[in-house]
Amino acid sequence: MKELPALQACRLLEPGPIVMVSTCDNGRANVMTMGFHMMIQHDPPLIGCVIGPWDHSYHALRKTGECVIAVPGLDLAETVVDVGNCSGADFDKFERFGLKTRLAEQVSAPLLEDCLANIECVVVDDRLRDPYSLFILEAKRIWLNEGRTEQRTLHHRGDGTFAIDNGMLDLSDRMVKWRHLP
Ligand SMILES: Cc1cc2nc3c(=O)[nH]c(=O)nc-3n(C[C@H](O)[C@H](O)[C@H](O)COP(=O)(O)O)c2cc1C
Repeated sequence: MKELPALQACRLLEPGPIVMVSTCDNGRANVMTMGFHMMIQHDPPLIGCVIGPWDHSYHALRKTGECVIAVPGLDLAETVVDVGNCSGADFDKFERFGLKTRLAEQVSAPLLEDCLANIECVVVDDRLRDPYSLFILEAKRIWLNEGRTEQRTLHHRGDGTFAIDNGMLDLSDRMVKWRHLP
């Protein structure tokens, strides 16, 4: 086996779908790209996400306790990278990248109309925020955009490279010992 530097662990484990995170602070919405996220619990559905304090979004999330996690399809690949390489502190990213939004039901952050799915989230635990910039979010509402023809998702492999999701393998009949966490 070839050894990889331990620092590369994220390259193996990061590739859930790349997502975009919208926030809204004082009526001003913003959006960023995020690869560091994980499911933590089934019910209520808890999601952990790491958002660096250098991000404009960090301060909005910290202040408002609300965000939307949107799952883009392959058609938004370039936008995903560009949105993650500039700051909402400098300009309106929705305008710059032509991202259409919709009002969410339960949070002030907007839904991204062109994404495959949008998850309305609220921060339920910030105890790990200071050591790790880790926010624990509870998913409150989910909206699926089934009308989109492009359903493939992007999975970050580091430095702006992505694996593209393709196809489904259904082995659900072998899942005989599955339990909800916790
Ligand atoms: C593919 C990709 C993945 C990223 N993942 C994260 C992440 O998990 N956490 C984070 O804090 N920033 C991540 N970023 C960087 C932010 O999206 C970037 O700093 C962005 O400019 C923040 O925008 P804002 O200042 O408007 O909040 C990622 C960027 C890219 C392109």
